[in-house]
Amino acid sequence: MFAHPHLLGIEGLGPLDITAILDRAETYAEAARAGTPPEPVLKGMTQINMFFENSTRTQASFEIAGKRLGADVMNMAMQASSIKKGETLIDTALTLNAMHPDLLVVRHPHSGAVNLLASKVNCAVLNAGDGRHEHPTQALLDALTIRRRKGRLHRLTVAICGDIAHSRVARSNMILLGLMENRVRLVGPRTLMPAGVDHMVAEMTDDMKEGLKDADVVMMLRLQKERMDGGFIPSEREYYHRFGLDAEKLSYAKPDAIVMHPGPMNRGVEIDGVLADDINVSVIQEQVEMGVAVRMAAMELLAQARKG
Ligand code: NCD
Repeated sequence: MFAHPHLLGIEGLGPLDITAILDRAETYAEAARAGTPPEPVLKGMTQINMFFENSTRTQASFEIAGKRLGADVMNMAMQASSIKKGETLIDTALTLNAMHPDLLVVRHPHSGAVNLLASKVNCAVLNAGDGRHEHPTQALLDALTIRRRKGRLHRLTVAICGDIAHSRVARSNMILLGLMENRVRLVGPRTLMPAGVDHMVAEMTDDMKEGLKDADVVMMLRLQKERMDGGFIPSEREYYHRFGLDAEKLSYAKPDAIVMHPGPMNRGVEIDGVLADDINVSVIQEQVEMGVAVRMAAMELLAQARKG
């Protein structure tokens, strides 16, 4: 069974851990579709969400996931917190820890901040995205969406396209997809490629035609301007022309390829708006749906592992 105290990244998990989370999430996804309420396995537990960075879907989905499982969920309003008065991350964490939460969900702009925090508290910590480092629940919900649509999560060719260098989503996905023995291709301008792809051998190209060839899955990423200092691309128009996914570029992939995007999307920058909404190819809404199921599963397994 799942035997980790925290969910800080995909790194450190094994294929069995990933399958355990996805299998559990699958039952939650099916129950939600059938309108069957889940057992309140987190009843009596306190979940605190601390988002030091903006978020729509991740925060909402962690909140809904906790509530569906019966937890008492509290969203810290970080903009109004004592962080603004100069309190350090660790002091804030220790203060919250003294209130005995069971689950702490943290998003932070600095890579490694969530790991540091996890070492200071005695509850389960879930990383909801730290800097450019990891976003494990995103990679898991992507994996579940792929597994449902493709019927398997191995021996697929997945093209991850766009701003890879600044993306924790790309990093967590690369690790997960590699672990499950898929072929990963990174496609984007050289300026937006990571300096060292340390975890696995991913192929890299700055040519969409080459990168999308025979792909089963095309995963688009947002240009993360908030993490760029200086110009990484000549212009958004130029970027869209070369790297923006439209029907023509998608035709380089397999005929049954699916299109993914973690959101938020910049329509007309990395993806054509019509294609993003085309339910014949785009699984973007299903990704959001699976997000709730995966977070329910992850929190349940962590809570179980704590109880021993
Ligand atoms: C991503 C994130 O925050 O890392 N979004 C998300 O969690 N759905 C990707 C992004 O911000 O572009």
